[in-house]
Amino acid sequence: MADRAIRGRVLTFRRAPAGAGDAGSYAFLPDGIVLVKDGRVEAVGPTASLLPRLGGAPVDHFPDKLILPGFIDTHIHFPQTQVIASYGAQLLEWLEKYTFVEEQKYADAGHAARNAEFFLDELARCGTTTACCYGSVHATSVEALFAAAEKRGASMIAGTAIMDRNGPQALLDVGKDSVAASRDLIKRWHGKGRQRYAVTPRFAITSTEAQLAACGALLHEFSGVYMQTHLAENPEEIATTRRLFPNDPSYTSVYARAGLLGPRALLGHCIHLDDSEVALLRDTQSVAVFCPTSNLFIGSGLFDHARLAANGVRIALATDVGGGTSYSMLQTAAEAYKAMQLQGQTLSALAAFDLMTRGNSAALGLEAEIGTLAPGAYADIVVLDARATPAMAHRMETARGLEDELFVLMTLGDDRAVMQTYIKGKAALIPRRGLPPATP
Ligand code: GUN
Ligand code: ZN
Repeated sequence: MADRAIRGRVLTFRRAPAGAGDAGSYAFLPDGIVLVKDGRVEAVGPTASLLPRLGGAPVDHFPDKLILPGFIDTHIHFPQTQVIASYGAQLLEWLEKYTFVEEQKYADAGHAARNAEFFLDELARCGTTTACCYGSVHATSVEALFAAAEKRGASMIAGTAIMDRNGPQALLDVGKDSVAASRDLIKRWHGKGRQRYAVTPRFAITSTEAQLAACGALLHEFSGVYMQTHLAENPEEIATTRRLFPNDPSYTSVYARAGLLGPRALLGHCIHLDDSEVALLRDTQSVAVFCPTSNLFIGSGLFDHARLAANGVRIALATDVGGGTSYSMLQTAAEAYKAMQLQGQTLSALAAFDLMTRGNSAALGLEAEIGTLAPGAYADIVVLDARATPAMAHRMETARGLEDELFVLMTLGDDRAVMQTYIKGKAALIPRRGLPPATP
């Protein structure tokens, strides 16, 4: 017998939509049920056909609300919850003035533990059930995050930031070779419960050539470990990188030569790339991570989605909090749409919702586990209300079908549109506005 049933308007994607109107890219049940057993999706189908299988399982019924796989954020900084919304600087100054200052506080295990709880609460409030997280340089930061996530049953990918130059001494001198410290963390956490490790050289500027090479070697010691870093975000960053690595033909080649690129490599930003760099990303099947709120807020530039997609580069979407300005993947999709509009490109609501769920899970190679509601996937689920605010409800009076509703949700929605978030089939939020008595 199922442990729980979640009933409402069920939507899950099968493949990347070709564009607006591609009804073959998703499955939609106007009145459907997701049956959950042992934390996973047991079955999904029309209510009429699944009702007889319910037995005595409690039913969380959300009439008129959309039930989707939980959102996946492919690039976010856990120690930047108190950096978000810092005024008036572009990347290198922003790092020095705000970010490096704040991240030093994560040497304190108590600070890290408190902020890990805040961070995971905030993700859940926004309907995000998996995130690829940068820690600070301190093992304490990632220990705290993994421990808190594992207690909640939430699947996280994380790693300590690795740096050995061009930062404050307190971040460079963490008492131990930081690549060796990452190895210890991989042994402790990679594959423990739902947690996975990402080797995280911060970016080329803050690592020596030797440290990047050591990160590349570490990656090849383990299977399934990810690599995350920043690439080609800002012109001054690129010029500095070229000065520090004069023998490399490009910024991307610095990472390629260190053995850091590949199908599990997540490269934040990828804004200012030449054709050879785009080809390197494609040939190594690396993932370019689109961080629209951050690209706009720090004034870095516009991610050229159409160019990268046309060249066969894999693309994911992310908030990049605290350079990014919202934890909400809905708001992130809205800013992605605007950044693409400025370049004569478009992002359909179907493409955006696919990207936030199945598309991002495919970028992580985790499609069988998260990002869809296929039987066997974890029951990580978000319930959305397109009438969550007066402005949304008013606009919904003129909505023309499902795709219009999704576009309203991504353009006007944020954490207020999230009615409930389930992690492994368990309600993670106190239900809002007296909505269904979600069974604990
Ligand atoms: N490049 C190196 N570190 C960072 C960071 O913390 N945020 C962003 N947006 N870019 C970076
Ligand atoms: Zn970042």
